[in-house]
Amino acid sequence: MTMNWTAVGLEDVAPVVKPDRGEREAFAEEVRRGLRRARKELPCKFFYDAHGSQLFNRICDLDEYYLTRTETGILMRYAGEIAQALGPRCTLIEYGSGSSIKTRILLDRAKDLAGYVPIDISRSHLDAAARQIRLEYPGLAVLPVCADYTQSFDLPARCATGRRCVFFPGSTIGNFEPEAARDFLRGIRAQCGSDGALLIGVDLKKDPALLHRAYNDREGVTAQFNLNLLARMNRELDGDFNLSQFAHYAFYHPGRGRIEMHLASLCDQDAWAAGEQFHFREGEAIFTESSYKYTPQEFERLATDAGYRVEHRWTDSRRWFSVQLLRAV
Ligand SMILES: C[S@@+](CC[C@H](N)C(=O)[O-])C[C@H]1O[C@@H](n2cnc3c(N)ncnc32)[C@H](O)[C@@H]1O
Repeated sequence: MTMNWTAVGLEDVAPVVKPDRGEREAFAEEVRRGLRRARKELPCKFFYDAHGSQLFNRICDLDEYYLTRTETGILMRYAGEIAQALGPRCTLIEYGSGSSIKTRILLDRAKDLAGYVPIDISRSHLDAAARQIRLEYPGLAVLPVCADYTQSFDLPARCATGRRCVFFPGSTIGNFEPEAARDFLRGIRAQCGSDGALLIGVDLKKDPALLHRAYNDREGVTAQFNLNLLARMNRELDGDFNLSQFAHYAFYHPGRGRIEMHLASLCDQDAWAAGEQFHFREGEAIFTESSYKYTPQEFERLATDAGYRVEHRWTDSRRWFSVQLLRAV
């Protein structure tokens, strides 16, 4: 089975849903807070408006972006084992479900799921993906939740009982600072209950040149994805960022074990957004995303600190990526 993220990426079916006032005000508040700081930064969750989600699907298809292909290969190879490890009548809860493409590999094998709960911040993308999953898996209860998973949110009432497994693929855990990652994993553990599990995709440390390439593709799609944050402020927060005066800048920091993504100002300039003016010196950057990479041992320490044991760790033959099943202890 080959998968093409752009082709099944819902571009044609996802309507662009305008954010409501509350969502726009929350975005504006975080923009003001982040851009007032001495070291300017914006939370990476804001990449994912409808356009950003489409760009992310294009990234998944890039040659350089080994993460999606490698994780998908692992899931396809071990889907039978994974489905068995989930146990009977399990509700699969996916954090940051996007187009739910990897999920289909599990849905094809885990035939007696009690339900599927995709959770995503990108509303139009989530709704389109949930509609598509309902069509493809008619017997499955699909209960989408549009939420920011870094804040508290309620699961649908019918998930309150029974076995639960959280699926958190894509190495999105790498976007959290290590301490925040530990707290976040603890929160999932509380949500899953004592017989629950967490199936998580974790990108592994490797040759920095490979990592660098993955976030600096030749076509410049990752650059567009990063710059979309400025375009989104222009669209939703009456911004006037000049996109041609900012550059995508991403690199691997071996000491910190993370990719850092920035938007660097190419000149001295002012930009307006969310009712405020911000000054940028030439060369000054907005920090937009971290993607931490782990060794298996480092991630095991993190999981242990968060109250889990690693029950299974599946990897590819090059040991570039891992899918891990964690159990609450
Ligand atoms: C890196 S993509 C991964 C998508 C998909 N799970 C995969 O593995 O290919 C991250 C996904 O998480 C969603 N997301 C990012 N931050 C979020 C947040 N704070 N709350 C809910 N969803 C979030 C994005 O909209 C996006 O669909």
